[in-house]
Amino acid sequence: MSQQSQSWNSRVGLILAMAGNAVGIGNFLRFPVQAVQNGGGAFIIPYLVSFVLLGIPLLLVEWSTGKYGGMHGHHSPPMIMQMMNHRKIWRYTGAFGIFSSVIICSYYCYIESWNLSYAIYSVLGVFNGMGETQISDFFAAYLNVSVDNFIPLVSFLFCMCLNIFILSKGISGGIEKVAKFCMPMLFIFGIFLAIKACSLTAGEDGAIFDGTEGLNFLWTPNFDSLDNPKVWLAAAGQIFFTLSLGMGAIQCYASYLQKEDDIALNSMTSGFVNEFTEVIIGGAILIPISVGYLGVDRVVELMQSGGLGLGFKTMPYLFEQWGGVLSALTGLAFFGLLFFASLTSTLALAQPTIGFFSRSYEWTQKKSSIFFGGILLVMALPCILFFDKGVFDEYDYWGGTISLFFFAMIESIAFSWVMGVDKGWRMINDYAELKIPIVFKYVLKYITPTLFIVIFVSALIKPMNDDWSLLSFSGWELDNSAIIAELMHKGVDPNDPSIFYLDMTRILLLIFFVLICVLIWHATRTREENSNKRFTESHQNTLE
Ligand code: ALA
Repeated sequence: MSQQSQSWNSRVGLILAMAGNAVGIGNFLRFPVQAVQNGGGAFIIPYLVSFVLLGIPLLLVEWSTGKYGGMHGHHSPPMIMQMMNHRKIWRYTGAFGIFSSVIICSYYCYIESWNLSYAIYSVLGVFNGMGETQISDFFAAYLNVSVDNFIPLVSFLFCMCLNIFILSKGISGGIEKVAKFCMPMLFIFGIFLAIKACSLTAGEDGAIFDGTEGLNFLWTPNFDSLDNPKVWLAAAGQIFFTLSLGMGAIQCYASYLQKEDDIALNSMTSGFVNEFTEVIIGGAILIPISVGYLGVDRVVELMQSGGLGLGFKTMPYLFEQWGGVLSALTGLAFFGLLFFASLTSTLALAQPTIGFFSRSYEWTQKKSSIFFGGILLVMALPCILFFDKGVFDEYDYWGGTISLFFFAMIESIAFSWVMGVDKGWRMINDYAELKIPIVFKYVLKYITPTLFIVIFVSALIKPMNDDWSLLSFSGWELDNSAIIAELMHKGVDPNDPSIFYLDMTRILLLIFFVLICVLIWHATRTREENSNKRFTESHQNTLE
């Protein structure tokens, strides 16, 4: 099956696949943790502002450039970037899109496999009778892969093969069909859990507080943290992660649109479906249930120290309180929901690389999918085998935070300042059934790229204690969380053995990035040779 012959079968399928791309563990696990860590109710204001000033404009940029690239036969970030400007450098900026998508996919597919294992464990009653600490320890032991503990690896390999199988069936035959099944299932499970969570009553089934206690905690505005740049950075980061921006995935999916397909309506619909799922459903599960059983203080304490793993450390214990069949059912619903959400996201993260191979080397979708599986395995293994050495977090930081933000910034600059926003605006509005307010043209032109640069530079050189006064005579001491400080392991004991693993991970990531650039160079040459050959052959045929 060639890439040119592929497209979405129906608008519903397209919206569900795009929403499936966006809706993921970011909605159900990352959002609640970010909200709690950043002031509860105060987080939502920077979050919504980031959605309007960065999220919506970038959705429009990625959908329109993707569609435009697809109309010229391109289905991967390098060539789509070059469509905006013919200078060769733009092709290589697309390497960040491939890099982010593969790195995120490799650790994300591992999380997908945790969900699968936990859904099965819930049904089998493995957690029955375990206390809170035992369940938390169970997760730590699960992640410690060894010859005696190979289930996580088997579960990962199963998920990886499932992804390859679906991807090999193509856009409409694989991805679209899976989205049409997974997304409704996800909504059914999500709504069931949200109703259960919000109707928790203090004193019943071991709950200490009503479910509404957690909702109050999340939604009661706390304006104190609004002037804290860290909250704004966290909010912008969450918007990128949840909408799958800067990962090349939206561009790639949009490249399979038909000429008459509408960018404005489709992009806004899938973006708002994601936001509804995150803020309304995602916000109504993890926090109300955890607060109902553990209380606000304990939840804040757990969320300050825990990241994406929090749901695995606490939820089985909380579901257990509902007893018997209901505990198995809710466990299945929660981890099943996360499994479906992550499956539709990993499929999207894989497609930019598959589109690249299929188009550049004229490989079939099946061959490209299998090749992608090989890359995924090589990149995921260090993350699985050396999880406790910080490799997983390092992937998330460089691939899932820095690279995607950097790529989104480049896309925004290329669209608004290099290609020109006038042409971009025409691309957005071609065949549009929905009129995007003209104010967004100016947001795209002035605000979005500027905000990107400001946020990126701030993150690069963030000073200690957020003291931005350049006139300070005490010098410019970097905060430990500044990107440059992270690079230098600032604040980490030089004798810490984990530094070795972190440096090895960085070398691996760097080699991988350079390899992508070499592949882009080679693929361009191969494509040019192929098209020259075809031109010569057709010229000869004409002469004969
Ligand atoms: N957008 C995906 C998520 O939210 C990556 O998990």
